[in-house]
Amino acid sequence: MLHKTLKSFPDNFLWGASTSAYQVEGASLEDGKGPSCQDVKEVPEGTSDLKVCADHYHRYKEDIALMAEMGFKAYRFSIAWTRILPEGTGEVNPKGIEFYNNLIDECLKYNIEPIVTMFHFDMPAALDQRGSWSNRDSVDWFVNFSKILFENFGDRVKYWLTINEQNMLTLVGPVIGTMTIPEGCTNELKEIYQQNHHMLVAQAKAMALCHEMLPDAKIGPAPNISIIYPESCRPEDTIAAQNANAMRNWLYLDAYVYGKYNNLVWAWLEEKDACPEFAPGDEEILKNAHPDFIGFNYYNTSVCKESDGTEKGGAVSQQENSGEAGLFDGVKNPYLKTTEFGWEIDPVGFRGTIREIYSRYHLPMLVTENGLGAYDKLTEDGKVHDPYRIEYLRKHIEQIQLAITDDCEMMGYCPWSAIDLISTHEGMVKRYGFIYVDRDEFDLKTMDRYRKDSFYWYKKVIATNGADL
Ligand code: BG6
Repeated sequence: MLHKTLKSFPDNFLWGASTSAYQVEGASLEDGKGPSCQDVKEVPEGTSDLKVCADHYHRYKEDIALMAEMGFKAYRFSIAWTRILPEGTGEVNPKGIEFYNNLIDECLKYNIEPIVTMFHFDMPAALDQRGSWSNRDSVDWFVNFSKILFENFGDRVKYWLTINEQNMLTLVGPVIGTMTIPEGCTNELKEIYQQNHHMLVAQAKAMALCHEMLPDAKIGPAPNISIIYPESCRPEDTIAAQNANAMRNWLYLDAYVYGKYNNLVWAWLEEKDACPEFAPGDEEILKNAHPDFIGFNYYNTSVCKESDGTEKGGAVSQQENSGEAGLFDGVKNPYLKTTEFGWEIDPVGFRGTIREIYSRYHLPMLVTENGLGAYDKLTEDGKVHDPYRIEYLRKHIEQIQLAITDDCEMMGYCPWSAIDLISTHEGMVKRYGFIYVDRDEFDLKTMDRYRKDSFYWYKKVIATNGADL
């Protein structure tokens, strides 16, 4: 639709940015924190470990002051499960509670709304050893953890996100360092979708608990959603794109919002003898979740065509899928440029994704991630010139405004990331932040913070509520 007049961003639009605990905090085993799966995994070759990251744990005051200087209305961060419960269950670590109390209070001091992700890729290592999400008890572990969060922080945190990118945990677990398959497993696909089912049930119970304990708070999921185009108008390619979309996107959102499994994915799992087992009451639990909004991460779209029937290897990163035999084959998009790290850039697809989500679910939406990873350079006079990031963000924000003009309900925009941090599998050199951190992959240097050009640009965007891009 071509609009003659654009609608403005709502007055209470939550401009901010995101991080996650294991990628930004460092202090990975300090003050009683237990190890998470990220702390014990094998570090991808050539990349830093997660011991220091951006040292946000020690420098959060300086970091939040910089976010306040940019004018942030919101800061999305995650709470490390093992800081609160070092073993995943059992004794609460008072130092962990204290840290997040301080972080939340620091945000509120500047009127920055804390948006808390309860789980961002960091399963406690102790629970990994007990089978992680394969174990049905994982539902109780997560609900117990969420109850502790609501009790301790619910007086100040009004926005909650359950599980970050559950779809990527399911589709690319090995890439992001989260996959645990129990020894002796004979049907890996079934195991993975059983884990996924436990996550669905766990987050549904956490949502219901949030509504019960904190009636004024809002809670939603945070999957990675982006539409998948058919390569051509061949009808077979459209069927393939429907399969791919169901598998990547709608399986998750259908379950979160309607409490139902997507029929296309269910039929595929049936064929593979990989349907998850339901415990008594699960159906009811899924139906009673009722998210207040949909949080979602968007980086780029993808393309597929009819499957030639051979195995292609499935998803290879959060944003790339080579295909699933019988469902679809992944192909490159010839119309799009890519980032330095090979992810396609598709702002228009962002609008398309927002429209599609809204027409399917009719819930307000919060963008919980979006951004561009690049090899930024600090100049001798302490500047970081990142016009490519400004261009990426500007074009995506323009598309949000078009989507708002399309009458899609948008609550806020929290791109990835507030500050440079460690990538899921490509190290420190893949930077996303508005704030530069002076360290290299292995050399920790000064760890000083520098304002990138995009910092000043975003400050202006927020100050004008998106009118001056
Ligand atoms: C999302 C994750 O998949 O994308 C983040 O939620 C991640 O944790 C971000 O860092 C960017 O991906 P990457 O692989 O470049 O770090």
